[in-house]
Amino acid sequence: MMSEANTQAAGSGFFLSLEGSEGCGKSTQMAMLQKFLAAQNIEPVMVREPGGTALGEKIRHLLQHDTAGEGMSAEAELLLFAASRAQLMHEKILPELANGRLVIADRFLDSTTVYQGVARGLDADSVAAINGFATAQRKPDLTILLDVDLATGRQRAASRDDEPDRMERESDDFFEKVRAGYQQLAAAEPERITVIDAGLDPDTVHAQVIHTLTERFHGIHR
Ligand SMILES: Nc1ncnc2c1ncn2[C@@H]1O[C@H](COP(=O)(O)OP(=O)(O)OP(=O)(O)O)[C@@H](O)[C@H]1O
Ligand SMILES: [Mg+2]
Repeated sequence: MMSEANTQAAGSGFFLSLEGSEGCGKSTQMAMLQKFLAAQNIEPVMVREPGGTALGEKIRHLLQHDTAGEGMSAEAELLLFAASRAQLMHEKILPELANGRLVIADRFLDSTTVYQGVARGLDADSVAAINGFATAQRKPDLTILLDVDLATGRQRAASRDDEPDRMERESDDFFEKVRAGYQQLAAAEPERITVIDAGLDPDTVHAQVIHTLTERFHGIHR
């Protein structure tokens, strides 16, 4: 008999987010996880940020590729990410969690804390307040931080044949701040955030992702 989880009340669903800088392997691990869960007859709700809703995908385009976004202020950037997140939260994540589903997000509020707060240098309290408002104060139950060194991440991101987006064109200095910001966040919230060495091969990282999720999400049968 499985003991009742303290992290997961019946019918309340479970919310996992994957975080880490460009090229760390979030999308790769999301796909591997989806396949693994399908074999267990679990169909998670998969969302990505920015985006994940019709409105959010329009905002994603503004943030990433639209020339209108080129001179964007850091403050406007923060609010656009927050608007996309608020829509995703209220339209999708909260209702799906209420239905008892497993929700997996490719980036969530920690990206904003780190990119707009730490790396762009916006006031941390303002960022936290805006994040809290956008998410109805509901944090992920578990966050997996895929940690990889700058050179490896950039190399991987560059090896993809897509156009580098506005964020990917930032300096090395910016991405050093992103990595350090994520590590600080993980140290500050060790109960929620688990760090995995994403410099290892995809299968090894996947095994660790499964291990971490299985410890916390009790819908997976071992
Ligand atoms: N553990 C790994 N070892 C080697 N290559 C990897 C690993 N994980 C992913 N890759 C490759 O690196 C590239 C970037 O991975 P992926 O797109 O999953 O990163 P991401 O974190 O989603 O990046 P972004 O933040 O830009 O969306 C892909 O070409 C992928 O195949
Ligand atoms: Mg990705």
